[in-house]
Amino acid sequence: MKSLNDALPSATALISAAARAAHALVDNSPRLLLDSDAGALCALYEPSPLDFQLAYSSEPVLAAARASTVIRSSFARRLLHDSGLKQCVYLGAGLDTSVYADTAAKVWVVDRGEVLAWREELFTDAGLTDFAVPVSADLAAPGLLGSLIGAGLDRSQPVGVIGLGLSMYLTPQQNRELLAQLAELPIGSELVFDALLSTELADEAGRAYAAAITSRSGNNEPWQSRFTPQELADGLGESGWLLQHDIAESEAAPSAFWAANPQLNPMRLVRLVHAVRR
Ligand SMILES: C[S@@+](CC[C@H](N)C(=O)[O-])C[C@H]1O[C@@H](n2cnc3c(N)ncnc32)[C@H](O)[C@@H]1O
Repeated sequence: MKSLNDALPSATALISAAARAAHALVDNSPRLLLDSDAGALCALYEPSPLDFQLAYSSEPVLAAARASTVIRSSFARRLLHDSGLKQCVYLGAGLDTSVYADTAAKVWVVDRGEVLAWREELFTDAGLTDFAVPVSADLAAPGLLGSLIGAGLDRSQPVGVIGLGLSMYLTPQQNRELLAQLAELPIGSELVFDALLSTELADEAGRAYAAAITSRSGNNEPWQSRFTPQELADGLGESGWLLQHDIAESEAAPSAFWAANPQLNPMRLVRLVHAVRR
C-alpha cells in the first residue's frame, strides 16, 4: 500500500484521477465518462484519495473539481475522436488515460520525468497496461518538439495536442512559448486545452473555488495563469493557431447532465478551448 504522506510527484494528478474515478460512483447518469484505470490507481493508496470524494461528494470544492475534471476530459476525448487524427500528444498527462482510451491514434504522454516514473510504477502495481509512449519534458522549457520526434512523432503529419489541467501551472509567458513551440506542428494539427478566467470574469462560485485551491496548505503546484477570452484568442492568433471554440465549461456538458447532478453546481471559471493550426 502507498501512503498519501509519501512525497507525491504531482498531488494534482492524483486528485484529478480521484475525481474521474468518483464520477461513476457518486454522480448520476448521464455520466460523461467511466474511468476504471483511475479507480485502480487510487486503490493503491491507503487512505485512498477517492475516499475524500466518496465521503464529501457534495462539498463544493470537491464537486467542482470533479465536474471540471470529467468535463474537460470528455470534451477533449470527443474532439480527438471527431478529428480523426492519427497522432495525439497529451501534455501534462499526469495519471490520465481517459482522454485517449478509445482512440485509434498513436499517443504520446508528456509530463515531468518524475511524474512519468511514478505513473509507470503505479500502472505496474495496479496491473494496468498503457499503450501511450512516455515523453519526459519540462513544458516550461524549450525542446518539446525535439523530444517528441525522438520518441517517434512524425512531424510531417498533423497532430492532436491536448493539455488539460496544465495552462494554469505555467506562467503566461511560458504558455505563450509553449504555443509557439506547438505552432511548428503541421497545418491541420488541432489543440485542445482548458484555461482559467481572470478573477473579475469568474462568478462567485468560481472565485470561491479558486480561493480554496490557492490557499491549500503545502501547495507546491500553484496556479500561475488566468486569462480573459481576448488574451486567449490573441495568444493563439499570434502563434499561428486559429480559434475554433472557446466555451464555458458549463456549456460543454449537456443540460441533462446538470439537471441530474445538482451537486455539481456549474461555476464560471474554466474555459475549454479548441484551435487548429492554420
Ligand atoms: C492537474 S494535473 C492534470 C493531469 C491530467 N491532465 C488530468 O487531467 O488528470 C497537472 C499535470 O501537469 C503536469 N505539469 C505541470 N507543469 C508541468 C511542466 N512544467 N512540465 C511538464 N508537466 C507539467 C503535472 O506534473 C501534472 O501531471
